[in-house]
Amino acid sequence: MPKVTRKPLIAANWKMFKTPDEAVAFVQAFIPLVATHSHAEIVLCPSPALLPVVVEAARNTPVRIAGQNMHWKDQGAYTGETSPLQLKALGVTHVLIGHSERRQYFNETDETVNLKLKSALAHGLVPIVCVGELLAEREAGQTAAVLERQTAGALAGIDPAAAKTLIVAYEPVWAIGTGKTATPEIADEAHKIIRAQIAKSLSAELAASTRILYGGSVKPDNTAILCALDDIDGALVGGASLEAVSFSQIVANSAAK
Ligand code: PGA
Repeated sequence: MPKVTRKPLIAANWKMFKTPDEAVAFVQAFIPLVATHSHAEIVLCPSPALLPVVVEAARNTPVRIAGQNMHWKDQGAYTGETSPLQLKALGVTHVLIGHSERRQYFNETDETVNLKLKSALAHGLVPIVCVGELLAEREAGQTAAVLERQTAGALAGIDPAAAKTLIVAYEPVWAIGTGKTATPEIADEAHKIIRAQIAKSLSAELAASTRILYGGSVKPDNTAILCALDDIDGALVGGASLEAVSFSQIVANSAAK
């Protein structure tokens, strides 16, 4: 595949953690710690209830804010949901789509991921689409098939010309919150499978320019070895992103290539 430069992106997935006060305290402590790290884009993904205060706390800084999920419709009778228009109006720029916890606990499917991706692109929200195999799928030798199915499903019917901002995150479910990080070999192989599927579903050009993040027990001490790999373009970090010093070390250590 042609070699292109892809700016690393390091995203903090805070899941259902932090109160508004804790979130603001994090941003205030974190911003000075990453003031000199322009090699990577930095994105914080707080719960919906925290978005207004986090957007405000990060205003006029390079840090961008993502939703952890969104509905694909602009508005409607969908109790408990957040629309792309609401995210945009708050100053949110990115959105996670299809995180494995949403697939596991909230019935997210390849079809809803696809609808959400189309909507995010149409609204100018930068989508971070999450894919990844379960432990049982890996043990059954189904990893490639699962990653191809999830990636192809997410990208079905997407116009390549509209998908220039697409970001994908490879998050093996067995590595999330378990302390078991994928080895560089496992991550590299998975990222190559996903990149090849992007080439098939969209174009070789987009496959070369799309950033693919790794997620699953990323910590300060394993960031460099993962981010040094050609096909890994950053990280989606859960547990180790909840504390400002630890997350700033991950940002610093991602400058590995
Ligand atoms: P973890 O979570 O870093 O705690 O494994 C990653 C994620 O779920 O995005």
